[in-house]
Amino acid sequence: MKGIFPIEKFRELQTPFYYYDTKVLRDTLACINKESQRYPNFHVHYAVKANANPKVLTIIRESGMGADCVSGGEVRAAIKSGFPADKVVFAGVGKSDWEINLALDYGIFCFNVESVPELEVINELAAAKGKVAHVAFRINPNVGAHTHANITTGLAENKFGISMQDMDHVIDLALELKNVKFIGLHFHIGSQILDMSDFVALCNRINELQERLYARRIIVEHINVGGGLGIDYSHPNRQPIPDFRHYFETYAEHLKLRPSQTLHFELGRAVVGQCGSLITRALYVKQGTNKKFAILDAGMTDLIRPALYQAFHKIENITSDEAVEAYDVVGPICESSDVFGKAIDLNQVKRGDLLALRSAGAYGEIMLLATIAANCPKDILRMN
Ligand code: LLP
Repeated sequence: MKGIFPIEKFRELQTPFYYYDTKVLRDTLACINKESQRYPNFHVHYAVKANANPKVLTIIRESGMGADCVSGGEVRAAIKSGFPADKVVFAGVGKSDWEINLALDYGIFCFNVESVPELEVINELAAAKGKVAHVAFRINPNVGAHTHANITTGLAENKFGISMQDMDHVIDLALELKNVKFIGLHFHIGSQILDMSDFVALCNRINELQERLYARRIIVEHINVGGGLGIDYSHPNRQPIPDFRHYFETYAEHLKLRPSQTLHFELGRAVVGQCGSLITRALYVKQGTNKKFAILDAGMTDLIRPALYQAFHKIENITSDEAVEAYDVVGPICESSDVFGKAIDLNQVKRGDLLALRSAGAYGEIMLLATIAANCPKDILRMN
């Protein structure tokens, strides 16, 4: 496992930093293409919120995927990395006017609209530019997901999407408005989902909603089922590539599509999660009253997932072969939640050793940028 890292190079670098294994990323992309292309009407978009590192974005764009964005900054980052505007979609519950205007100017494929007032604003801003914006409605399907409560998005209690009972009303409104064109429906029930039955539940709900639309002779061009496929964070023999075959098969088997309809996916974590590691140095090893602490130079400000969701990232001492000992692995921040793991078995840690926090390619570096961006005018990247 340690052999995958260029340790000598790492020793020269200032820590902490994110390391991306581009071979893992390219192998993952090749697998997604192979498995999704078994179904000609399946199209995969990458959810930029998971990682907007320019090099990472460029490799993903080269694989042919479209981009799913949730801020004006992400739309700009996607276009700068060469994603064609007609493969960019823009979602999010709180799109500002400047962000909508930017997306209109680029001529993106579609806005995923999350409320009636937002639809009205897009119509107004498009009218001012003499344009017609493509819109899909994000419907809140009231389908749960077996994942952490903070990353469940498809329940009626969540802020996301338009409720199912309002779907007909919002479609009627879109058909009346002159500067929007209704083209599809969008869903996303949550993230880090490993139980395919959650996606089956989503398919069943979409089938019901489509029946309701067929009764009105409406067949939308395009269904977007969001992302959500999870990765293997903790297993000792961590699977580097998620089970894309089973994932796409689940949709092919359970979602009833008409021949004219295309199906879009917006995968984030499953694309980039496994290629990234946070590399950090041990500053001190401290003997506490009844345990040892390994104190690192990276903390919750570099990788917030453990503090925010009690998420586990596999930790390895990549410069030691000494006997294994148990440590609480912590950062330097003055917060008791600045902990990466408790009672973690690591090859004996000494000051200056390099450690890797694995599976940190998704929602790692980007959430660090988001923390910084929170103090700047709302521009590039939000915390997602
Ligand atoms: N589409 C929409 C509308 C989304 O909101 C998301 C993620 C995705 C696609 C991509 O989902 P994925 O395939 O990555 O599961 N910061 C959290 C994850 C938040 C996910 C937000 N939405 C974490 O670190 O676990």
